[in-house]
Amino acid sequence: MVQDKKGRVTYVQLLKEDLMVMRFVPAEGEVPQYKAGQFVTLGLPVKSENGKIIRRAYSIASHPENRKYVELFIRWVRKPVPGRLTTELFNIREGDEVGWLNPTGMALLVNEKLPDGSPDGRRIVCMGGGTGIAPFVSMAQHLHARGDKREVVVLHGASYVDELAYKNLFTRLEYDSIDRGKGEWNFRYRATISRPQEWFNRSWGGQTGRVETFLRPKYDEISPLERLVGEKITKDNTIFYVCGWQGTIDGVMDFLKPKGFVTMRDKRDDGSFEVKDESYG
Ligand SMILES: Cc1cc2nc3c(=O)[nH]c(=O)nc-3n(C[C@H](O)[C@H](O)[C@H](O)COP(=O)(O)OP(=O)(O)OC[C@H]3O[C@@H](n4cnc5c(N)ncnc54)[C@H](O)[C@@H]3O)c2cc1C
Ligand SMILES: NC(=O)c1ccc[n+]([C@@H]2O[C@H](COP(=O)([O-])OP(=O)(O)OC[C@H]3O[C@@H](n4cnc5c(N)ncnc54)[C@H](OP(=O)(O)O)[C@@H]3O)[C@@H](O)[C@H]2O)c1
Repeated sequence: MVQDKKGRVTYVQLLKEDLMVMRFVPAEGEVPQYKAGQFVTLGLPVKSENGKIIRRAYSIASHPENRKYVELFIRWVRKPVPGRLTTELFNIREGDEVGWLNPTGMALLVNEKLPDGSPDGRRIVCMGGGTGIAPFVSMAQHLHARGDKREVVVLHGASYVDELAYKNLFTRLEYDSIDRGKGEWNFRYRATISRPQEWFNRSWGGQTGRVETFLRPKYDEISPLERLVGEKITKDNTIFYVCGWQGTIDGVMDFLKPKGFVTMRDKRDDGSFEVKDESYG
């Protein structure tokens, strides 16, 4: 039988009615060891299920070097019917208890070596749709904390401007890259808004469309991502990490497949691949 550990919710930041940042600390002992890109499973008894414990996976947004808490970025699923666990989670208060299972997940771990055993020095491009940015909040802070010298680009797509929850954190990481120089920390962050026509988004002047539009070539055959990094994206110079809806992953692969990119799931016989992804499905 699965034995949930106990945690205490120490921080709830409601960004809007259906989006929150939540932190918990284990009731006994330390924050568990985990790797950037992993997820934790939360569990709570759910009234509508006669008190049965419902468990769901949530990507860890905090980085492994942060030993103070585990941070999560959670959407309250409301359609077509209220989600079982998220409805409970959005009733939770600081000080309440949650059940959790040890962090796990291999899909989005930072790739360190190429198949021939040499270090993977390729540019890292992380693409997150909505709450799918969470694993890259962890990854970017982790790479920063350990002084990784690879080029890192984080791209976030959201429907509304107030859903760019980590804009401040990523912007600070980018300023640090400008201050220290790309030889020390090479980081850029860009966001896109997929419903630019809506009144609430009227202040948005950046990229528009879903996150995969960063890969769509413009009239000059250069994509916004290529314009940002200043060269053609090829399977030899870039590895992609993608998280969110399955449609986001499919949308990204629509651009990358014709360029010869393959996912880790479909890696070649020699073990090589250029895309790691994780979706809800
Ligand atoms: C590896 C991984 C990491 C994840 N990380 C995150 C994260 O960081 N943040 C995040 O917000 N989410 C994340 N998720 C998604 C999360 O695990 C849950 O799936 C999500 O929160 C919904 O859970 P729920 O219990 O509230 O919804 P559920 O009750 O499981 O409902 C899921 C969907 O089914 C529909 N549904 C349920 N019952 C019915 C019914 N009877 N008839 C018709 N439709 C129905 C609901 O309306 C909803 O659309 C992650 C998922 C995975 C696999
Ligand atoms: N590690 C993981 O596996 C992981 C981690 C975090 C979240 N998730 C899951 O990822 C999903 C994202 O949820 P969210 O509420 O945060 O997303 P969301 O806010 O509804 O959408 C985020 C972005 O994705 C676009 N989008 C919506 N549906 C899409 C589709 N079918 N195909 C392609 N793009 C789509 C939206 O565009 P429009 O404005 O046009 O709708 C928006 O730009 C959820 O299912 C969540 O549970 C998984």
